[in-house]
Amino acid sequence: MSFADSSMNSNSVYLTRENVNIIVGALSSGAKKVETTVDCNLTKTKLELLPDEVILGGRSFNFAELRELSHKLTGIIKVEEGNIRRLEFFAGKYYKLRPTRFAPTVEIDGISMHRTQDIDPWEDSRMKTAQVVKKGGIALDTCGGLGYTAIWAVRLGAKEVISVEKDENIRKLRKDNPHSRAFFCAEIQAVEGDIYRLISGFQNEIFDCVIHDPPRFSLAGELYGREFYEQLARILKPGGGMFHYTGNPYSKGRGRNFIQGITARLTEAGFLVKPCPQALGLTAVKR
Ligand SMILES: C[S@@+](CC[C@H](N)C(=O)[O-])C[C@H]1O[C@@H](n2cnc3c(N)ncnc32)[C@H](O)[C@@H]1O
Repeated sequence: MSFADSSMNSNSVYLTRENVNIIVGALSSGAKKVETTVDCNLTKTKLELLPDEVILGGRSFNFAELRELSHKLTGIIKVEEGNIRRLEFFAGKYYKLRPTRFAPTVEIDGISMHRTQDIDPWEDSRMKTAQVVKKGGIALDTCGGLGYTAIWAVRLGAKEVISVEKDENIRKLRKDNPHSRAFFCAEIQAVEGDIYRLISGFQNEIFDCVIHDPPRFSLAGELYGREFYEQLARILKPGGGMFHYTGNPYSKGRGRNFIQGITARLTEAGFLVKPCPQALGLTAVKR
């Protein structure tokens, strides 16, 4: 797999409250070195410490500055060639890459785009993808996000993945996220746009599987509608499978009707539908 994007410099350093706390602790104890992750848990690095400072990503951080960050930082700071950038911003909505135990999630106006309780976003994405991807197939990833489901589709054997993402701010954060690096590879075709509009341009029966991981219903109701499901049935090969993430509607007070509604519309569109509680969704096979 080749990395196709030069903006992702592996010399970049990512600060979170967790690694800043570790550095602050080491500086307080007078240590000369400390081992921690500076790429959001992908690898561990040994950092050289000066008496009251540390050089990270070409920039000096003194003890007071780090201690303040250790109290206040809730997101992720990227330090590259001496420049500091918070991986969160307002652009009509508030976008934030938020650290978890392993791979970051992305929040839009405080709503997380992955499961983060009891499971981290990386494993969440593996589970969604593993329900449908088969070796050698062509996969459609309807809602690309940080690219985790597309990366997993390749790891699980898909020969080609078409991954669609409509929000340029999410695509920007994807470029900055160290866990998204494998997204930029020959097997994944990143498409910028709205799957609801683009789907009509795909040929009949060209995909072996679909990973449908939409935002919640209140944010993208059209991606849960009969018309869209009919398009999904059209572009899937007979016998092809789809995983449709639904979340746990019971926790949001919507309950059984919500799942029954999705199941009924998928069935009418030509799918055989089964619950998939372990991945909080449904699997649907084109009849
Ligand atoms: C739950 S997240 C997907 C997470 C993703 N599967 C991953 O592995 O990181 C939903 C994503 O769908 C995007 N989205 C919402 N509506 C869309 C649409 N109509 N077409 C394409 N992407 C859309 C959102 O911007 C968001 O990034």
